[in-house]
Amino acid sequence: ASLPPEVFHWIPFVGSSIAYGNDPLDFFFKCREKYGDVFTFTLLGRRVTVALGAKGNNFVLGGKSTAFSAKEAYTHLTTPVFGKDVVFDVPNEIFMEQKKFVKVGLSTDNFRAYASMFEQEVDDFMRSDQAFTIWQMNDINEWGRFDVTDIMAQITILTASRTLQGKEVRSGLDKSFSTLYNDLDGGFTPLNFMFPNLPLESYRRRDEAHKKMSEYYTDIIRKRRESGHSDEPDMISSLMDQKYRDGRPLRDHEIAHIMIALLMAGQHSSAASGSWTLLHLAHNVEVQEALYQEQVNHFGNPDGSFRPMTYDGFRKLPVLDSIIRETLRMHPPIHSIMRYVRSDVPIPATLAAPSQDSIYVVPKGYYVLASAAVSQVDPRIWANPMKWDPTRWSDPEGVAAQAFKTYSGENGEKVDYGFGAISKGTESPYQPFGAGRHRCIGEQFAYLQLGVVISNIIRKVEVRLEDGITEIPAHNYHSMITMPKKPRNICYRRRRF
Ligand code: HEM
Repeated sequence: ASLPPEVFHWIPFVGSSIAYGNDPLDFFFKCREKYGDVFTFTLLGRRVTVALGAKGNNFVLGGKSTAFSAKEAYTHLTTPVFGKDVVFDVPNEIFMEQKKFVKVGLSTDNFRAYASMFEQEVDDFMRSDQAFTIWQMNDINEWGRFDVTDIMAQITILTASRTLQGKEVRSGLDKSFSTLYNDLDGGFTPLNFMFPNLPLESYRRRDEAHKKMSEYYTDIIRKRRESGHSDEPDMISSLMDQKYRDGRPLRDHEIAHIMIALLMAGQHSSAASGSWTLLHLAHNVEVQEALYQEQVNHFGNPDGSFRPMTYDGFRKLPVLDSIIRETLRMHPPIHSIMRYVRSDVPIPATLAAPSQDSIYVVPKGYYVLASAAVSQVDPRIWANPMKWDPTRWSDPEGVAAQAFKTYSGENGEKVDYGFGAISKGTESPYQPFGAGRHRCIGEQFAYLQLGVVISNIIRKVEVRLEDGITEIPAHNYHSMITMPKKPRNICYRRRRF
C-alpha cells in the first residue's frame, strides 16, 4: 500500500492553501489533470486527501463514522457558535438522535402552515423595505435596483424566523436579535475553521453573541412553558415535546443550541441559492417567463391576480423545481465536505490505485474531502456543464438523465447511475445536499422556502441584469458558503397587473 499522490508545493505548512482558498474548483480540476481523482494537498499544516467524482463522493460520504469523523473535522468551528451538548459537541450517536428530533419538526403539517407565512413575509418585505421599494414607484415603467444577496439574506432570515424559528424570534429580528445574529455569524468563517482561537475582536464578539443568543432562546422556552403555550407550528415547540431514547427530554439549552445550529445551517445556504437563482432568471428572460407562466397557469385568476400559495400547490411545479435543481448544480452552497480520518483507510481500487496489484491508503490523522461542486460540473458527466439549462432536468429522457445513463468512467466503461441515485445514494455526481449519515435534513424546507420566495418575487416584478452586464457574477469562495462576487445587482420593474 502507498500514500495517494501529493500536490507539489514550495512552502511547507502553507502548501496549497492560497490556490485552494481562492478557487477550489479551479484548483481541483487542475490537480485532477496531473494526479487523477485522488490526491493529497496541504492546507495550513493539515493533510487533506481529495476524492473526486461520484466514486469519490461515495468514498467520503459513505464511509464509516468510526473511520471518518465529521465531529473532529468541525467541532472547533461549530461548538463556539452553536454551543455545548449539540451537533459536533456530542458523540455522533447523540447528534443522530438530535437530527431525528429536527426531522419530526420538519413535518408536512408544519410545511402546510409555512407556505402562506413565507408568502406573507415576502409581500410585507416588498411593500416596506427601503432597498426594494416597488410599491412606492409611481411609474410602472420605472426600473429599480438592488444587491441580490443583501436582499435575499434579509428575506431568508425573515421567512425562516417566521416559520421554523417561531414568532418570538421573528419579532426579535426588528430589534436585538439581528445584531446578535450578525456577531455570531462573524464567527462562522473560514478563518474560524482554520484557526479555532485567535485573540481577535470578532472571536470575542462571537462568544458574547453566543451566550446572549442562547439566553434569548432559553427565555422563550421558559416563557412558553410557564404560559402553557407550546403548540406553535415551529421547531421550538416540536423539540420541547421530544425525548432521547433513554427517556430524557431535551434540556432547555440543548433546544436553544439546536435552534442556533438550524439558524446558521439554513441562512447562508438558502440566501446564496436564492441569489444565484434570481441572477440566472435575470440573465435568462425566457426561463423567467416560463416560470411566470407556470405561476399563472397554476395559481392565476382571470382578473390577473393570484391565488395564495399552498404547500400542496408547490409540489407539482416542474419549471420552478428544475430551476432550483439546476441552480444548485452549478452553485452548490457548500463546495467542500471534510472528515477527519481516525484510522488508516484503504482507497477502493475502483476509485484510484497506484497499480493493478497495489492500493492507496489514507493514513490516520489526515482529512478526506469530497466536492460535489466538482462532480456537478464535470464535463465527463454533463453536457455543456457550464450552461445553466433547467430543461436538462424536466424530461426523464433528457440531457441530465441521459448523461447519467451514458456516463463514461476513466477507461470509457459505461456506468449506469440511474435517476434514483441522484437523490438517494452516496455514489452520485449530484449532491448539493450531501449524502450519507450527515446528509441535509433541510432540503424540503429549503425547496419550499426558495420556491415560494422566488415565485412570489417573479409574480410581482420582471428582473434583468444591469445594462452592459452579460454574465452573472463569478463565485466568491472566501466565505463558508459560496456567494456571488460583487457587483451582483438585479434590476427590476413591476409587472402590469
Ligand atoms: C447538512 C446543504 C439548507 C440543516 C448539509 C450538508 C449539505 C447541506 C451539503 C452535508 C454536510 C456534511 O456532510 O458535512 C444545504 C443546502 C441548503 C441547506 C444546499 C439550502 C439550499 C438547510 C436548512 C437546514 C439545514 C434550511 C435547516 C432547517 C442541515 C443539517 C445538516 C445539514 C441539520 C446535518 C449536518 C450533519 O449531519 O453533519 N446541508 N443545506 N440545511 N443541513 Fe443543510
